[in-house]
Amino acid sequence: MALRVIQWSTGNVGYHALRAIIHHPDLELVGVFAHSPAKVGKDAGELCGIEPVGITATNNAQELLAMQADCVAYMAQGEPRPRETVNDLCMILEAGKNVVTPSLISLYYPPFSNQKIRQRIEAACQKGGVSLYASGLDPGFSGDALPFTLMSLCERVDSVRVAELFDYGTYNDPAFTGEYFGFGKPIDYPAALFAPGGIKWGWGGIVQMTADALGVTLDEIREAHERRVTPKTLHTKMMTVEAGTVAALHFQVQGIVKGRPVIVAEHYNRLGSDIFDCAPDWPKPPEGLPSCYRVQIEGSPSLTCYLGIKGYDGDHNTGGVTATAMRVINAIPAVCAAKPGMLSTLDLPLVTARHLMFT
Ligand SMILES: NC(=O)c1ccc[n+]([C@@H]2O[C@H](COP(=O)([O-])OP(=O)(O)OC[C@H]3O[C@@H](n4cnc5c(N)ncnc54)[C@H](OP(=O)(O)O)[C@@H]3O)[C@@H](O)[C@H]2O)c1
Repeated sequence: MALRVIQWSTGNVGYHALRAIIHHPDLELVGVFAHSPAKVGKDAGELCGIEPVGITATNNAQELLAMQADCVAYMAQGEPRPRETVNDLCMILEAGKNVVTPSLISLYYPPFSNQKIRQRIEAACQKGGVSLYASGLDPGFSGDALPFTLMSLCERVDSVRVAELFDYGTYNDPAFTGEYFGFGKPIDYPAALFAPGGIKWGWGGIVQMTADALGVTLDEIREAHERRVTPKTLHTKMMTVEAGTVAALHFQVQGIVKGRPVIVAEHYNRLGSDIFDCAPDWPKPPEGLPSCYRVQIEGSPSLTCYLGIKGYDGDHNTGGVTATAMRVINAIPAVCAAKPGMLSTLDLPLVTARHLMFT
């Protein structure tokens, strides 16, 4: 029997999740939550660019939670509203619905997340008898399932480095990757991401999860960042970046053993700029890829893997948000089958695109 799913919000990521749920042979869409007044009352099909399906979006959370449903795909913007997001997640879990979500990247590796928040969510899981799996593409798949699968080829691992080399120029995410990252601001702007502990909060879980996957004890976790300004004004989907303001940034979280960074998760991001304009010395994707993920494992054997990504419209950011949605949507059967509690990628079986080859 198909698993009954409620889609919670239809922004960049949720749009693709909703469409995938509607088409998925193992899932059945039973409800849609909409925060934006303009979406309330609209048909789910209309909200994801396909034919009507007879289910309309509501902003009545209690009405939705009273429904028979196995899982909620929660995809409201999480990072700029962490308190509200945790409240939403607990409300849904306590109502006995499993949750998959890319919102709140700090929850991707529960043992590394804030202890109070973890205890609250864990208690909600136990009360509802359900599970929560939070993941995405980066952080997420590119720093956990992908390198973990590669590492299964190794007899020895000396270091692991995962990087996002991505142009956000066609991404419409002004609240998080825009404002929060400090794009379009002066180079000394106090962007939230670069407050002490900010990068670690978001990407440290990936480093700790990798250490735990390897059975390595880290002496400490460090963070570092660097920003570059653009010499010319750039017009991107989420904002105009004036000349002299930040258009490229590099940040990293380092897992240290004996003074050596043995596990590194990092981003080289730019906003519509030609990387040669403002950061000619930074790594760039291989020829032919506008953006990519890169995994470098030193050991025996040493491995390098570039992951290019392209959406149905040919755009790498469309590909990125589709992959973010599918990483958790494809995990729904495993999450519903898991014992109650917060899950990470290390707790799940191999997740594939089961039943998604439409022949
Ligand atoms: N790890 C990864 O690889 C990855 C990649 C991309 C995104 N993400 C995360 O996934 C989440 C969704 O990202 P997105 O790009 O899809 O976000 P988005 O398009 O900016 O926003 C998603 C939805 O959030 C809802 N929303 C906005 N303001 C709200 C408020 N004040 N109260 C309640 N709901 C509100 C809206 O819902 P309605 O549709 O209901 O109106 C909006 O469509 C974010 O937390 C993001 O950080 C992770």
